[in-house]
Amino acid sequence: MNLGKKVVYQIYPKSFYDSNNDGLGDIRGIIEKIDYLAKLNIDFIWFNPFFVSPQYDNGYDIADYRKIDPKFGTMEDFEELSAKLKEHNIGIMLDMVFNHCSTEHEWFKKALAGDPKYQAYFYLRDPKPDGSLPNNWQSKFGGPAWAKFGDTGKYYLHLYAPQQADLDWHNPDVRQEAFDIVNFWRSKGVSGFRFDVLNVIGKDTVLVDSTDPVEEKKLYTDTPVVQEYIKELNANSFGQDAESITVGEMSSTTIENSIKYSNPDEHELSMVFSFHHLKVDYDNGEKWSLVPFDFKKLKQIMFDWQSGMDKGNGWQALFWNNHDQPWALNRFGDPVHYREKSAEMLATTTHLLRGTPYIYMGEELGMVDPSYKSMDNYVDIEAINAYDELVKTHTPEEAFKIVHSKARDNSRTPMHWDDSEYAGFSQSKPWLIPTDQDEINAEKELASGEIFDYYQKLIKLRKSEDVISDGHFSPLLEDDDQVFAYLRTLNDEKLAVFNNFYGKETEIDVPADLQASGHVLISNYGRQLDSLPAKLTLKPYESLAFKF
Ligand code: NOJ
Repeated sequence: MNLGKKVVYQIYPKSFYDSNNDGLGDIRGIIEKIDYLAKLNIDFIWFNPFFVSPQYDNGYDIADYRKIDPKFGTMEDFEELSAKLKEHNIGIMLDMVFNHCSTEHEWFKKALAGDPKYQAYFYLRDPKPDGSLPNNWQSKFGGPAWAKFGDTGKYYLHLYAPQQADLDWHNPDVRQEAFDIVNFWRSKGVSGFRFDVLNVIGKDTVLVDSTDPVEEKKLYTDTPVVQEYIKELNANSFGQDAESITVGEMSSTTIENSIKYSNPDEHELSMVFSFHHLKVDYDNGEKWSLVPFDFKKLKQIMFDWQSGMDKGNGWQALFWNNHDQPWALNRFGDPVHYREKSAEMLATTTHLLRGTPYIYMGEELGMVDPSYKSMDNYVDIEAINAYDELVKTHTPEEAFKIVHSKARDNSRTPMHWDDSEYAGFSQSKPWLIPTDQDEINAEKELASGEIFDYYQKLIKLRKSEDVISDGHFSPLLEDDDQVFAYLRTLNDEKLAVFNNFYGKETEIDVPADLQASGHVLISNYGRQLDSLPAKLTLKPYESLAFKF
C-alpha cells in the first residue's frame, strides 16, 4: 500500500449525526451521511471508540472491546456501515485503547472480586510503609495516578481518569487479549487500527518515584519494551494483512523513536501521531495557559520532524485537528477576518507534506471553537478538572478564558449540517451545544463556500502527483518569520510550497534555483504563474504550490 496516496478522515461518532434524535450521534447517522463523505474521496475513516463504555472519558474507557455500545447502535449497524463504505472504497480504522480499560470491564471486576489471574492484568501496588500512595506519579487528567483497589488496601495505577485502569503489558495474557481483540475486528473486515497512547504501555516493572514531571514521563514513555510489544502485536494480528494500515498515538515521543515505530523494516506500525507541533501555544509547556503561538518554533518542530522522518524512512500522520485539540483555525489562523483563507492555508501546509493527512470532521467546513459563555457548557473531565485547578490561582473570568481556548470539547461539538437550532445534527438537545452554525455549516459550504472544494482539490492532487505522495522533504526560507515554505522532490520533479501564516502581505526572496518555469498546482487565491519570480508577494494567509 502506498501510504502517501491515502487520506484519512476522522469521525467523532458522538457528534457526527444523530439519526434517532436522542442528542447523541450514532452509527446509523454516519450511514446516512456516506454520500457526503464520499465526495471528499477519502480512503479511510478513523472512528473514535463506539464500544461499550460508561463514557467517563468519552469512550476511551472501554468496558467491552467486542461490542458496539447500544448508545451508538448495533453490530448489524456496524456491518452495514462497513459494507456501504466499502462500496465507496472507504476502509474503517478502529480505535484500540489498550493502555487501559474501564474499571467496569469484566477484567477489572474479576480482579476486584479476588481472581488472581485478572489481578495480574493491572498494576496493583501496596502503599508505601508510611501509608502514602505507591509512588508520586500524577494522572494526566490531574490528581494522583493511583486509586484505592476496593477494600484490599492496595492501589491500582491509572495514568488517565480513575475509571481507566492501566493494563500491565508485561503480562503475556494481557498482550494476548490485545491480539485477540484486533483479530476479532479483522474477522469483521476491518483493516485499519489506531492505537491509543501506545508508547506508554511499557512502564518499568518497579514504579519508582519521579523527581519532576518531565522525568516522570520518561519513566513510562517510549521504553525499549514498547517496540518489542508492538512487534508482537504486529506479528500476531494486523501484520498478517498486507493491506492493513495502523497508526500509533505517541505521547511526548521523539523523532528517533517514531522512526523505529514506523520504519517498514521494523514491522511495527504504518505511522505515528506526535504532538510537539501542537504545543507551541503552551506557556513553558503548560497547556492551560494563554499565549500566542510561537511561529518559529512551530516551523522548526515541523521541519525537524519532516526531515528526520524522511531521513530515517519513518512515516508521519499529518494533522492539525482531532478530538483532543481546540480548532487549529482558532490557534493558528484568523477565524474572524480570514476564516476561509486561513483554513485553506493550514490545509495546504499539512496536505502537501510527506506523510498521510488526517482530516477531522468539520475541518473541511472551517469549523471553529464554540462561543460558550459559561463552564456549564463543558462536559469533558479534563476541562472540568483544569478549571477547578485554575480558579485556585486565577480569577474565575481568567480561568474560564483559558478553558474556553484549550478545552477538548471545542472540537467535540456536533458537526454543523445546517443553520437550524441544533445545526441539523439532531432534533433534540445535543450532548454539547453547537454555536455559530448560521455562519458555518455543510449546506452553506457546499452551496457557496470555498473550503470544502479546496480540500477536494488537495486530496485529488495527493493521488495524482507522486511528488506529493512519495517525494522527499527539505525546508525553505528557514529564517522567515511569517512564511512556512518547503520543497518536495522526486527524481527530477520539484514542488515548492509557500504558506503565509499571517493576515498581512509579505514579500519573499525566492531561492535562485527555484526562479524557474513551471505551473501553479494549487493556490487559495486562484493565482496563475508560469515561472517563479525573484521576489514573490504573498497575500494574507496565501498558499501557493508551484511545480517545476
Ligand atoms: C488519547 C485520546 O485521544 C484521548 O481522547 C483520551 O482521553 C486519552 N488517550 C486516554 O485514552
